[in-house]
Amino acid sequence: MSSKTPYKVLCVCLGNICRSPTAEVVLRYFCEQQHLNIRVDSAGTSNYHPNKAPDERSQKHALKRGYDLSSLRARQLNVQDFIEFDLILAMDNENFDNIQTLQHQAELKFGKNKLRAKIALMSEHDEIYKQQALPDPYYGGANGFERVLDQCESSSRAWVNIFKNELAV
Ligand code: 4NP
Repeated sequence: MSSKTPYKVLCVCLGNICRSPTAEVVLRYFCEQQHLNIRVDSAGTSNYHPNKAPDERSQKHALKRGYDLSSLRARQLNVQDFIEFDLILAMDNENFDNIQTLQHQAELKFGKNKLRAKIALMSEHDEIYKQQALPDPYYGGANGFERVLDQCESSSRAWVNIFKNELAV
Protein backbone atom coordinates (compact mmCIF):
# COMPACT_ATOMS: atom_id res chain seq x y z
CA MET A 1 0.00 0.00 0.00
CA SER A 2 1.40 3.37 -1.02
CA SER A 3 1.88 5.95 1.73
CA LYS A 4 0.88 8.71 -0.70
CA THR A 5 -2.44 10.49 -0.29
CA PRO A 6 -5.04 8.55 -2.23
CA TYR A 7 -6.80 10.02 -5.25
CA LYS A 8 -10.45 10.44 -4.25
CA VAL A 9 -13.44 9.79 -6.50
CA LEU A 10 -17.10 10.46 -5.64
CA CYS A 11 -19.90 8.80 -7.65
CA VAL A 12 -23.10 10.87 -7.67
CA CYS A 13 -26.71 10.17 -8.74
CA LEU A 14 -30.08 11.53 -7.55
CA GLY A 15 -31.02 9.32 -4.59
CA ASN A 16 -27.73 7.56 -3.72
CA ILE A 17 -29.62 4.30 -3.34
CA CYS A 18 -29.46 2.75 -6.86
CA ARG A 19 -26.90 3.95 -9.40
CA SER A 20 -24.15 5.69 -7.42
CA PRO A 21 -23.79 3.01 -4.69
CA THR A 22 -23.51 0.43 -7.50
CA ALA A 23 -20.92 2.62 -9.26
CA GLU A 24 -19.03 3.07 -5.99
CA VAL A 25 -18.64 -0.65 -5.32
CA VAL A 26 -17.93 -1.61 -8.95
CA LEU A 27 -15.35 1.17 -9.45
CA ARG A 28 -13.69 0.31 -6.11
CA TYR A 29 -13.46 -3.34 -7.19
CA PHE A 30 -11.73 -2.43 -10.49
CA CYS A 31 -9.35 -0.01 -8.72
CA GLU A 32 -8.42 -2.62 -6.12
CA GLN A 33 -7.86 -5.22 -8.83
CA GLN A 34 -5.22 -2.89 -10.33
CA HIS A 35 -3.78 -1.99 -6.88
CA LEU A 36 -4.52 1.69 -7.44
CA ASN A 37 -4.28 4.04 -4.47
CA ILE A 38 -7.80 5.38 -4.99
CA ARG A 39 -10.67 5.92 -2.55
CA VAL A 40 -14.20 5.72 -3.89
CA ASP A 41 -17.34 7.05 -2.22
CA SER A 42 -20.86 8.01 -3.38
CA ALA A 43 -23.57 10.60 -2.68
CA GLY A 44 -26.89 11.88 -4.04
CA THR A 45 -27.85 15.33 -5.24
CA SER A 46 -31.13 14.95 -3.32
CA ASN A 47 -31.70 14.23 0.34
CA TYR A 48 -34.57 11.81 -0.37
CA HIS A 49 -33.11 8.81 1.47
CA PRO A 50 -30.70 10.01 4.18
CA ASN A 51 -28.78 7.19 5.83
CA LYS A 52 -30.74 4.51 3.95
CA ALA A 53 -29.15 1.31 2.67
CA PRO A 54 -29.12 0.84 -1.12
CA ASP A 55 -32.38 -0.21 -2.76
CA GLU A 56 -33.07 -3.95 -2.21
CA ARG A 57 -33.21 -4.51 -5.98
CA SER A 58 -29.82 -2.88 -6.50
CA GLN A 59 -28.38 -5.01 -3.71
CA LYS A 60 -29.88 -8.22 -5.12
CA HIS A 61 -28.69 -7.70 -8.69
CA ALA A 62 -25.24 -6.56 -7.57
CA LEU A 63 -24.78 -9.53 -5.26
CA LYS A 64 -25.45 -11.94 -8.15
CA ARG A 65 -22.24 -10.52 -9.69
CA GLY A 66 -20.36 -10.63 -6.37
CA TYR A 67 -20.72 -6.98 -5.35
CA ASP A 68 -21.88 -6.42 -1.75
CA LEU A 69 -23.66 -3.07 -1.31
CA SER A 70 -25.18 -3.84 2.10
CA SER A 71 -22.93 -1.68 4.29
CA LEU A 72 -23.41 1.54 2.28
CA ARG A 73 -25.64 4.37 3.55
CA ALA A 74 -27.05 7.23 1.50
CA ARG A 75 -25.95 10.80 2.00
CA GLN A 76 -26.41 14.09 0.18
CA LEU A 77 -23.66 15.79 -1.82
CA ASN A 78 -22.40 18.90 0.00
CA VAL A 79 -20.08 21.86 -0.70
CA GLN A 80 -17.24 20.30 1.32
CA ASP A 81 -17.11 17.44 -1.19
CA PHE A 82 -15.61 19.83 -3.78
CA ILE A 83 -12.64 20.29 -1.46
CA GLU A 84 -12.36 16.66 -0.35
CA PHE A 85 -12.59 14.88 -3.70
CA ASP A 86 -10.44 15.03 -6.85
CA LEU A 87 -13.09 13.76 -9.24
CA ILE A 88 -16.90 13.76 -9.06
CA LEU A 89 -18.60 11.38 -11.48
CA ALA A 90 -22.19 12.18 -12.49
CA MET A 91 -24.39 9.26 -13.46
CA ASP A 92 -26.54 11.33 -15.85
CA ASN A 93 -26.73 14.83 -17.31
CA GLU A 94 -29.26 16.11 -14.80
CA ASN A 95 -26.95 14.98 -11.99
CA PHE A 96 -24.09 16.75 -13.82
CA ASP A 97 -26.04 20.04 -13.95
CA ASN A 98 -27.04 19.79 -10.28
CA ILE A 99 -23.44 19.05 -9.28
CA GLN A 100 -22.29 22.13 -11.23
CA THR A 101 -24.88 24.29 -9.46
CA LEU A 102 -23.57 23.15 -6.09
CA GLN A 103 -19.99 23.68 -7.30
CA HIS A 104 -20.84 27.35 -7.89
CA GLN A 105 -22.10 27.58 -4.31
CA ALA A 106 -18.89 25.95 -3.10
CA GLU A 107 -16.86 28.51 -5.11
CA LEU A 108 -18.76 31.36 -3.48
CA LYS A 109 -18.27 29.87 -0.02
CA PHE A 110 -14.62 28.78 -0.17
CA GLY A 111 -13.13 30.62 -3.18
CA LYS A 112 -12.42 29.00 -6.53
CA ASN A 113 -8.80 28.01 -5.83
CA LYS A 114 -9.74 26.02 -2.72
CA LEU A 115 -11.79 23.52 -4.77
CA ARG A 116 -10.15 20.36 -6.12
CA ALA A 117 -12.94 18.40 -7.74
CA LYS A 118 -13.31 18.02 -11.48
CA ILE A 119 -16.73 16.92 -12.69
CA ALA A 120 -17.22 14.31 -15.43
CA LEU A 121 -19.83 11.83 -16.59
CA MET A 122 -19.38 8.26 -15.32
CA SER A 123 -19.49 7.20 -18.99
CA GLU A 124 -17.00 9.88 -20.18
CA HIS A 125 -14.39 7.42 -21.54
CA ASP A 126 -16.62 4.37 -21.92
CA GLU A 127 -16.21 2.75 -25.36
CA ILE A 128 -19.58 0.96 -25.24
CA TYR A 129 -21.78 3.58 -23.55
CA LYS A 130 -19.72 6.63 -24.55
CA GLN A 131 -21.01 9.72 -22.74
CA GLN A 132 -24.42 8.11 -22.35
CA ALA A 133 -26.54 8.77 -19.28
CA LEU A 134 -26.83 5.88 -16.84
CA PRO A 135 -30.62 5.36 -16.90
CA ASP A 136 -32.39 5.63 -13.55
CA PRO A 137 -33.72 2.13 -12.70
CA TYR A 138 -35.84 3.20 -9.71
CA TYR A 139 -39.28 3.12 -11.36
CA GLY A 140 -38.52 0.28 -13.79
CA GLY A 141 -37.96 -3.47 -13.84
CA ALA A 142 -35.10 -5.93 -13.44
CA ASN A 143 -33.54 -5.05 -16.82
CA GLY A 144 -32.81 -1.54 -15.59
CA PHE A 145 -30.79 -2.84 -12.65
CA GLU A 146 -28.81 -5.18 -14.91
CA ARG A 147 -28.17 -2.26 -17.28
CA VAL A 148 -26.81 -0.22 -14.36
CA LEU A 149 -24.36 -3.02 -13.54
CA ASP A 150 -23.34 -3.54 -17.20
CA GLN A 151 -22.72 0.16 -17.68
CA CYS A 152 -20.94 0.63 -14.32
CA GLU A 153 -18.58 -2.25 -15.16
CA SER A 154 -17.85 -0.91 -18.63
CA SER A 155 -17.36 2.70 -17.45
CA SER A 156 -15.21 1.58 -14.49
CA ARG A 157 -12.89 -0.37 -16.81
CA ALA A 158 -12.47 2.80 -18.87
CA TRP A 159 -11.76 4.99 -15.83
CA VAL A 160 -9.23 2.53 -14.44
CA ASN A 161 -7.32 2.74 -17.74
CA ILE A 162 -7.36 6.54 -17.48
CA PHE A 163 -6.19 6.43 -13.84
CA LYS A 164 -3.39 3.98 -14.69
CA ASN A 165 -2.16 6.14 -17.58
CA GLU A 166 -2.63 9.62 -16.16
CA LEU A 167 -2.20 9.38 -12.39
CA ALA A 168 0.80 8.35 -10.35
CA VAL A 169 -1.36 6.54 -7.80
P1 4NP B 1 -30.76 6.72 -7.90
O1 4NP B 1 -32.31 6.30 -8.10
O2 4NP B 1 -30.68 8.20 -8.23
O3 4NP B 1 -30.04 5.88 -8.90
O4 4NP B 1 -30.42 6.40 -6.47
C1 4NP B 1 -33.38 6.95 -7.50
C2 4NP B 1 -33.69 6.63 -6.19
C3 4NP B 1 -34.77 7.24 -5.60
C4 4NP B 1 -35.54 8.16 -6.30
C5 4NP B 1 -35.21 8.46 -7.61
C6 4NP B 1 -34.11 7.87 -8.20
N1 4NP B 1 -36.67 8.76 -5.69
O5 4NP B 1 -37.39 9.52 -6.37
O6 4NP B 1 -36.92 8.52 -4.50
